[in-house]
Amino acid sequence: MNKLAVHGKNLELILGNITRHSADAIVNAANSRLVGGGGVDGAIHVAGGPEILAECDRIRSEQGGCPTGGAVITTAGRLDAKFVIHTAGPVWRGGGIDEAGLLACSYRSCLELAEKNNCRSVAFPSISTGVYRFPIEKAARIAVRTVIDELKRRAIERVDFVLFTSADLAVYEKVLEEAARDMQ
Ligand code: APR
Repeated sequence: MNKLAVHGKNLELILGNITRHSADAIVNAANSRLVGGGGVDGAIHVAGGPEILAECDRIRSEQGGCPTGGAVITTAGRLDAKFVIHTAGPVWRGGGIDEAGLLACSYRSCLELAEKNNCRSVAFPSISTGVYRFPIEKAARIAVRTVIDELKRRAIERVDFVLFTSADLAVYEKVLEEAARDMQ
């Protein structure tokens, strides 16, 4: 299953590169210092151009970066989006320091900020499941369930998860199916 309707809104799973995706807001799996990095963060800065990092630098000097589970918003530069929303997901350290709660917080913070900025569509990568080593199935379950809950109460019409590998997509498909069953 790769699509779910939630209260007339759409959640969709897509295989691809998020830097080529079109949405009002594209989410970046960043770090707390907003200094750029590898993975999806590196790809977004390369494709979007230097304006994005310049705004991250300004945010860091004004408010010291982005706490884990929080989110900040910048221009999307050359990306096909109005904004990039940067969130710092938790580093997986075995599950004992509320990594699950912090990951849910990341998704919620992004959607709250998207709504505040009148975004109707938001695209997420799989936050924390690369360099930060959050186990993919646990992370997918938190991602999908948190987004479903938020879609019910926010003025956001579409959320896409843009998954980079077919293995990740398969995990998200399984988790979406479970969540859809639970909604019935
Ligand atoms: N489009 C979509 N997904 C991507 C892309 C892309 N272009 N590139 C990588 N990914 C996927 C990875 O396959 C992984 O599933 O994004 C997911 C998140 O992986 P990371 O980018 O490593 O992010 P994360 O685990 O949250 O680690 C964040 O990595 O790059 C640094 O600055 C970043 O320090 C921060 C840390």
